[in-house]
Amino acid sequence: MKSLFFKAFIASFLCSLVVKGQTIINVELKSAAPNPVISKYIYSHFAEHLGRGIYDGFYVGDTSKIPNTNGVRNDVVAALKKMKIPSLRWPGGCFADTYHWKDGIGPKDKRPAIVNKWWGNVAEDNSFGTHDFLNLCELLGADPYVAGNVGSGTVQELADWVQYTSSDNKNPMSDLRKANGRTEPWSVKFWGVGNEAWGCGGNMTPEYYANEFRKYATFMGSSEGKTKLFRVASGASDDDYNWTETLMKNIPHHLIEGVAIHHYAVIDWNHKGPATGFSEEQYFTTMQRSLQMDSLVTKHSRIMDKYDPKKQIALVVDEWGGWYDVEQGTNPGFLYQQNTMRDAMIAGTTLNIFNNHADRVRMANLAQCINVLQAVILTNQQKMILTPTYYVMEMYNVHQDATLVPTQVSDTEYSFGKDKLPAVSASASKNTAGVVNITLTNIDPAKKQKVTLRLNGQSFKNISGRILTSAKTGDCNTFNAPDKVKTITFKDFKMTGNTVEIILPAISVVALSLN
Ligand code: AHR
Repeated sequence: MKSLFFKAFIASFLCSLVVKGQTIINVELKSAAPNPVISKYIYSHFAEHLGRGIYDGFYVGDTSKIPNTNGVRNDVVAALKKMKIPSLRWPGGCFADTYHWKDGIGPKDKRPAIVNKWWGNVAEDNSFGTHDFLNLCELLGADPYVAGNVGSGTVQELADWVQYTSSDNKNPMSDLRKANGRTEPWSVKFWGVGNEAWGCGGNMTPEYYANEFRKYATFMGSSEGKTKLFRVASGASDDDYNWTETLMKNIPHHLIEGVAIHHYAVIDWNHKGPATGFSEEQYFTTMQRSLQMDSLVTKHSRIMDKYDPKKQIALVVDEWGGWYDVEQGTNPGFLYQQNTMRDAMIAGTTLNIFNNHADRVRMANLAQCINVLQAVILTNQQKMILTPTYYVMEMYNVHQDATLVPTQVSDTEYSFGKDKLPAVSASASKNTAGVVNITLTNIDPAKKQKVTLRLNGQSFKNISGRILTSAKTGDCNTFNAPDKVKTITFKDFKMTGNTVEIILPAISVVALSLN
């Protein structure tokens, strides 16, 4: 209650400070309450056996002319390490509930081929399997997040997978792993118990799925060897609050560490619109859908608070991002789309939302990493390009495992017709070296924003900045012009005592570092 009054007081105080045409951001550097740490896993990614995500994206095979390590592209690994990828979710998505992991171990020429029924009905030869994925994670320095098969699998199959990857005892599964060439366990902590159980994961009711989850989580156990498991329940789609409520109520809390939700910024599932060459109306609607993440996270968290007031169970947004029509001439089942400044705006605002909800959102996985949906990397044979979303993820990595610094942003408006959205969003954190990092976005495609940061009476000696911006919302990198959109040094600010005046250009993402 006290904090509600405090927030209301700050809000009215900020309103009284609003100077016409100017945005005030109060950076609460001296907040009395302890603030949460922004989990690095909020910056995680997702790689499904879908289209050219794994094959052609990550994996080209060890006989490829493209430089690789055991079949995994070296250029991709270097780029993702630079971005500081903390975790990678695999093998789906919808594919996860059709995947039988034992098909993907042992000699590659003996592995059975299956049909990828969700994604284009293409043959999946299982040449990229458990060893390939977990070794890839080691190369990346990222923690694996494995999604288990509940829809068409068995409890035993998932329990065996946990043991195969993570057991340091002698048992049939660790013997099998050793026979396949891996002596030491990998230690897989994050496990998804199915995916979209309300849809492609089995069309279950929340009550039925909660019972299934109880059974699977029991036989997976809470730890395997030295690895403490983090079991994530397949969560709600968008605003299906009843799903979250049922899981929180029906699953004993000692069996569960995370509850997922999925939310895509999609204009309309039947008319998604193009990834490039979109209208301002389509841009505005995408932003509207994307900014809904704030109310979704707030409302799902509120339900979780009811059953778990100490916030022990994490909200895991294990699929998010923009979803448009596929690029012309590509397989509709492959979900290949270009990535523009519109996607950079989705990424910048969404990551600010996750940071600001760090008390409950402790993992999020952008969908998807390479060549699928809102990708950070696109490949074309030996060529690889980094997308605007990549640059946002890379700029924001300063928040990983830093302590949240609350910010209050005065009202700003980006209007289209009769509708309005907040133009400016922000989040801030302080790292263990005392450096304060602030990330800001201006989604208005035409108007720059004058912003004043009020630093709560604190002053800093140095300030530096980076910016991602471009003339049009539809600007992107292509294989012929790979560097059209990229980050550059930002200098349009002035620090005076305890305030910083900034000019945020139209369609921009800015990261400032103060020490
Ligand atoms: O990311 C593409 C698909 O979207 C995933 O496979 C599924 O979980 C979701 O519906």
